[in-house]
Amino acid sequence: MTRGDPFPIELGGGAVVRRYVMDDLDALWAVASGERERLGEWMPWVESTTSIDVQRRWLTKVVDDLDGFDGCGIFVDGELAGGVGLSSDPYGITGEIGYWVREPFEGRGFVTSASLEFTRLAFEHLGLNRVVIRAGVGNQRSRAVPERLGYVEEGLERGAGRGLGGFYDIVVYAMLAEEWRDRPQ
Ligand SMILES: CC(C)(COP(=O)(O)OP(=O)(O)OC[C@H]1O[C@@H](n2cnc3c(N)ncnc32)[C@H](O)[C@@H]1OP(=O)(O)O)[C@@H](O)C(=O)NCCC(=O)NCCS
Repeated sequence: MTRGDPFPIELGGGAVVRRYVMDDLDALWAVASGERERLGEWMPWVESTTSIDVQRRWLTKVVDDLDGFDGCGIFVDGELAGGVGLSSDPYGITGEIGYWVREPFEGRGFVTSASLEFTRLAFEHLGLNRVVIRAGVGNQRSRAVPERLGYVEEGLERGAGRGLGGFYDIVVYAMLAEEWRDRPQ
């Protein structure tokens, strides 16, 4: 386990993951309002992010939480390309990674690279025992991310997700610390 703040994390190709700052508010709101239909299909926070004030309240919370890893952005040549976060239980056992990417940056590997680095962060920085990625059954692009990284598909949570189209089933993927240690290099 290492100490200190791990950010910024270089992903290569001009991409970096760093904590959000309050100056990212306008860029975040532009995404939440401009890509509402696309992101809202799978992400429940889009439905409730109805104004820049709601966005500001969320941003203030994550910016203030310097011990947390929930509020980070993927920036490509300084431009907001996507979001990635890791939330963990209070006992340091399990964490969950979530992500999204703006349409112009989709299909370029930034989310897989960021998720790999957040998996590393969870095991090597935080010392967690288990990391989870949950994706809608029909969200093939999202499911491909943990599958590419060697996460194990564990099962189905019925009706556990909600997007603008209503409730959907979620596939749970997980990796254990021992699987991370023994992963093929
Ligand atoms: C789900 C989502 C984040 C996936 O984004 P993505 O851009 O497909 O994922 P990645 O950044 O890992 O890119 C993967 C693609 O880049 C390619 N790629 C290029 N370089 C790569 C690299 N170094 N590493 C991995 N993939 C690479 C892969 O082959 C893959 O290509 P494909 O689209 O032809 O299959 C995105 O579709 C999204 O934001 N959707 C809406 C919100 C959402 O569903 N969020 C998840 C909720 S669980």
